[in-house]
Amino acid sequence: MHQFNLVLLGPPGAGKGTQAGRIVAEYGIPHISTGDILRAAVKNQTALGLEAKKYMDAGELVPDSVVIGIVKDRLQESDTQRGFLMDGFPRTIPQAEALDEALQGLGRAITKVIVLLVDEEILVKRLTGRRICRSCQTPYHVMFTPPEQEGVCDKCGGELYQRDDDTEATVRNRLAVYRKQTEPLIEYYDRSGVVVRIDGAQEAEKVFEDIREALGPA
Ligand code: AP5
Ligand code: ZN
Repeated sequence: MHQFNLVLLGPPGAGKGTQAGRIVAEYGIPHISTGDILRAAVKNQTALGLEAKKYMDAGELVPDSVVIGIVKDRLQESDTQRGFLMDGFPRTIPQAEALDEALQGLGRAITKVIVLLVDEEILVKRLTGRRICRSCQTPYHVMFTPPEQEGVCDKCGGELYQRDDDTEATVRNRLAVYRKQTEPLIEYYDRSGVVVRIDGAQEAEKVFEDIREALGPA
């Protein structure tokens, strides 16, 4: 059976969450977002959440050991058999190595890494205007992709909110952290020839068309 073991890579605001929703619907694979998992832990005030919150609010990365454990556990669940879409993970070389190792243990490997490329000034505009659904996590933008009714999710009627780390100062730090710690992953995955580069500055529908073309039929 053809597997879709996918990684979605790109700077904060590149549209990973936006495209992830479309990709998992089309390919029938689970969406594994470490950001969503960590935000749920913060909201539920678990030990993990209390530890993670201080890093997230500063726009820094949560320690590798913590995030790697979360992803390894998630990969044990049966819905990942046909594949998965990693969103926001890996974010460092040690995370990428740990993921390769875990997959190897399961007789699998990453099949494609989708890199979304967007200029930094656009990213700042996207993040500071972003709103997210509290119930289903669908991202909106007050100007670019507004919901039909202000403050309400089109998909599920949930309440929209602004993330604590979407202030301009924190956004700038998240972008710097991306350049330093995450961007080198493009070269890491280039070595195994699985990278596809997509122009993420286009309209969301066009970005998805390009992704679908790169991945092939479901
Ligand atoms: P995470 O939740 O992963 O956030 P991120 O990588 O900063 O990415 P974002 O969710 O901000 O952006 P996105 O690319 O999903 O963009 P979106 O689709 O929403 O991580 C948050 C924090 O958790 C980290 O800082 C770290 O502390 C921690 N963390 C998570 N994973 C970790 C890991 N592996 N290791 C260590 N720490 C980790 O789009 C953005 C906006 O633009 C939206 O408003 C959207 O509507 C709009 N938009 C999207 N596409 C378009 C388009 N084509 N045209 C116009 N507008 C668009
Ligand atoms: Zn919703």
